[in-house]
Amino acid sequence: MTSTTESSNTVWHRATVTRRRRERQNGHRGVILWFTGLSGSGKSTLAHALEEELHQRGCRTFVCDGDNVRHGLCGDLGFSDEDRAENVRRIGQMAKLFVEGGVIALTAFISPFRVDRQRVRMMVDNSKDFIEVFCDCPLEICEQRDVKGLYQRARRGEIPDFTGISSPYETPQNADLIVKTSEYTVEQCVQKVLALLEERGVVAPK
Ligand code: ADX
Repeated sequence: MTSTTESSNTVWHRATVTRRRRERQNGHRGVILWFTGLSGSGKSTLAHALEEELHQRGCRTFVCDGDNVRHGLCGDLGFSDEDRAENVRRIGQMAKLFVEGGVIALTAFISPFRVDRQRVRMMVDNSKDFIEVFCDCPLEICEQRDVKGLYQRARRGEIPDFTGISSPYETPQNADLIVKTSEYTVEQCVQKVLALLEERGVVAPK
């Protein structure tokens, strides 16, 4: 196991209830479903709608989303490039624990930088355990929706480093799936992700 740690003299404890045993019991694989995209692009909406569907199929799931996690685990972080990197690193480590627990972890974070998303991919078995879903929605539409009124405030200069306005968003180059959330209904987007999960053998076809 490779890790950077300040806590020396610690010894990794191996569980007897392993990931494989948990997955067998659950009837599906553990995986990180990493939703990325601008604020207002539909990440949380899609993650929760998909979770609902998976839950009804009997899957073990958990959604972590930016606004919630920033009230707790990442409450000490702001929106500088460094703080966003740390935010994504922590969520990545947390999601990795969920995968070890055999859970389908759905994360909904802007995660604007490719290198940070790539780092999470590399924390796990990148070909199997990390599925990057790009919620592709034009900035103009996110801004029109402006569900939280933050774009308007950012345009007025009241929120510094706002993604898409005064801070960059790096579009994924190798996303596992691109969902155009402004062109399809939530249900259609859910079906696209579900189809990929079935194709990759994460969940059994219905
Ligand atoms: S990330 O860039 O570090 O991945 P995260 O997804 O956790 O961001 O948080 C984004 C949410 O925080 C947005 O949906 C929005 O509600 C809120 N927010 C507050 N300030 C900013 C900002 N400067 N840039 C982007 N989102 C912000």
